[in-house]
Amino acid sequence: MEIRVLDAESVDDLRDLWSRSFGAMSDATWARSRMLGELLVRSGRQYGGYENGRPVAMARIYDMAQWWHGRAVSMGGVCGVAVAPEARGRGIGRELVQDVLERCAAFGHPLSVLYPATAPLYRSFGWELAGAMHQAAFPAEALRGFGSGSPVELRRAGPDDAAEIAEIIRRVHRDARSSGPIDWGEDAWRIFLAEGDDDYVYLAEDGVLDYHWGEGGTSLEVDTLVAGSAETLRALWGIVGSGSSVAKQVRACLSPHDPVFWLTKERGDGWRELDRWMLRVVNAPAAIEARGYPAGVSAEVLLEIDDPWMRANSGFWWLVVKDGQGRLERAAESRSAVRVGPRGLAALYAGVPSATLRGAGLLDGHVPVLDSVFAAAPFTLDSF
Ligand SMILES: CC(C)(COP(=O)(O)OP(=O)(O)OC[C@H]1O[C@@H](n2cnc3c(N)ncnc32)[C@H](O)[C@@H]1OP(=O)(O)O)[C@@H](O)C(=O)NCCC(=O)NCCS
Repeated sequence: MEIRVLDAESVDDLRDLWSRSFGAMSDATWARSRMLGELLVRSGRQYGGYENGRPVAMARIYDMAQWWHGRAVSMGGVCGVAVAPEARGRGIGRELVQDVLERCAAFGHPLSVLYPATAPLYRSFGWELAGAMHQAAFPAEALRGFGSGSPVELRRAGPDDAAEIAEIIRRVHRDARSSGPIDWGEDAWRIFLAEGDDDYVYLAEDGVLDYHWGEGGTSLEVDTLVAGSAETLRALWGIVGSGSSVAKQVRACLSPHDPVFWLTKERGDGWRELDRWMLRVVNAPAAIEARGYPAGVSAEVLLEIDDPWMRANSGFWWLVVKDGQGRLERAAESRSAVRVGPRGLAALYAGVPSATLRGAGLLDGHVPVLDSVFAAAPFTLDSF
């Protein structure tokens, strides 16, 4: 198979492959996917695998960042991995995923994230389950009146507000020391804002709301609601709740610690896991350096990383964490090191307790401070 970086003309080659792999695509769905596809094409991030001049495989890598304890770490968001049904089962998927991993490294992403339809393929290259995306449901009535009398100024947003929206989201996650959410960046926001009239976006100085009607018009679906202050949070939820005479329910992807759970009188209509995502530490020293760490934690831990796919990660390292900063320094061979492979490293980085990882055979060693260093309950608010 020859893996090509696709240009704007060849992107349409992939429509049939998308449909055969992920479900039939209407013209409207394809047009939407194509808009983001063009963004990828411009940066050389949409790939097609060809045999005898025909596309048999595809993958894309979004240029994203992911917050870890409030610091944005450059991340390759892998999606749209598929092999034509008639070409499956003879190693093309593995060839493609290995290529994607190498490209993430070449782009300089210390991390890669993906939502796996099937995990073993990705696990075999060092991605591991790290976090989840959850959806909460509330009776719309429970949110009504949240904004009444609010001094917060809100306005409708359009494509020209893309840079401001991306910046507000960055500020909110930095200040909240979030772990897990994804930074789409300004260019993707410009596309989302231009997509049509079905999404309603409101902007405050320190907050963003993006929502749309659910199917059948009896619910409202919140795609994004982030706010940097209690007043703005109430004002934005108030906009959504004001629809309660028509929409009986509001559904929203939220952090389990979103303040709205502490604002509504009742506990809400439900909380469910929508999807799980996997993390890959592509460049261990860069990923450790870029991440944030809890205040007051300092540690020096000897690690042995064995990464058969990214050999530069392998070897003995001192993990040094102090004053919210971390680094890896090369160390001499030692029997007392905590041993991890790429899957254990990814899960540890994401805050999975070391006892869990020992139980799963993904970490060997017992240094309790590791759990304080990487403490996180990561969540995401977007899928891709
Ligand atoms: C998943 C997919 C990309 C695999 O492609 P492929 O060319 O058949 O993969 P390979 O032949 O290289 O096999 C790679 C591994 O994946 C496993 N695998 C393939 N299809 C699988 C499935 N449906 N469920 C679980 N594992 C699967 C294989 O068993 C193999 O593991 P092994 O090496 O331990 O035997 C392909 O089946 C596909 O396009 N599926 C539909 C779209 C999809 O699910 N994409 C993944 C999105 S995250």
